[in-house]
Amino acid sequence: MGIEQQHQVFTTLNNGIEMPLLGLGVYNMHGDEAIQATKNAIEIGYRLIDTAEMYFNERQVGIAIRESNVKRSELFITTKVNNSNQGYDNTLRAFDESLKLLNLEYVDLYLIHWPIKGKRKETWKAIEKIYQEGRVRAIGTGNYLFPFLKELEEYASITPAVNQIEFSPYLMMKHELDYCRLKKIQLQAYTPLLRGKRFNDERLVALANKYGKTPAQIILRWAIQQNISSIPKSSNRNRLSENFNIFDFQLSNEDIAQLNQFDEKLRIVGDPMNMF
Ligand SMILES: NC(=O)c1ccc[n+]([C@@H]2O[C@H](COP(=O)([O-])OP(=O)(O)OC[C@H]3O[C@@H](n4cnc5c(N)ncnc54)[C@H](OP(=O)(O)O)[C@@H]3O)[C@@H](O)[C@H]2O)c1
Repeated sequence: MGIEQQHQVFTTLNNGIEMPLLGLGVYNMHGDEAIQATKNAIEIGYRLIDTAEMYFNERQVGIAIRESNVKRSELFITTKVNNSNQGYDNTLRAFDESLKLLNLEYVDLYLIHWPIKGKRKETWKAIEKIYQEGRVRAIGTGNYLFPFLKELEEYASITPAVNQIEFSPYLMMKHELDYCRLKKIQLQAYTPLLRGKRFNDERLVALANKYGKTPAQIILRWAIQQNISSIPKSSNRNRLSENFNIFDFQLSNEDIAQLNQFDEKLRIVGDPMNMF
């Protein structure tokens, strides 16, 4: 597990910068809902916010950041280049547009949202240029399963700092996890709660009862204890608090090992190998 401080856990990325392991995902939040949820999350203690050009809420996330009482330097803001904007020049333009919408001078992490056939190399080269210009503190990939990571090695001058993929106890991407650990790429789990689809699993409920926690908290703690970043989404203040309230207990090694057996290759979002 990373460095635990002030009810947060941070990990040090491969370029030396620190990132909170737990963050807020803002997919499917619209208008004022995105502003309010982001402000609530920051008030509760979240410091990592994961948005994307594709989510159409970068402007709202920017408003929430400015309306919060937390210094910009204490926040960790991620955004991603949309599939339709990939390629070298398009990515450079898309990044400028994201900065404008967020109304920020830099973002902390810029990701390729999905691996797009015929565009992957040019998109990565543009992202490296943005990094070299100092307008983003770290760069990475989204939905890069093993074959895409291996291919990237052939042309990348900079190793991604983060790879964001769908990952949960029910979708253990062991090959990607091992590879990312080996290459010092921080794994970040999206859709970590499976949008609630396994909250009734009796084995998970039994663990929740054992620790006096909820199924969501057990899953998020499981990830954090293995140094896996998670970005659960909630627009509801109580559930935002619930998902953040995971720093006061510890799962035993046996229980982590049990959760590691839950894998059933259950994907909520599409398979990156077959998407584009
Ligand atoms: N890179 C990619 O391609 C990609 C793809 C998908 C997602 N993501 C990122 O990952 C983030 C999270 O994934 P996600 O939004 O797909 O799914 P998720 O975080 O697994 O689940 C979110 C859903 O679960 C509900 N929920 C949240 N906390 C809960 C709790 N404690 N108890 C009961 N229900 C709860 C939320 O409803 P309420 O809002 O009503 O609480 C929402 O409907 C996204 O927001 C996005 O930032 C990235």
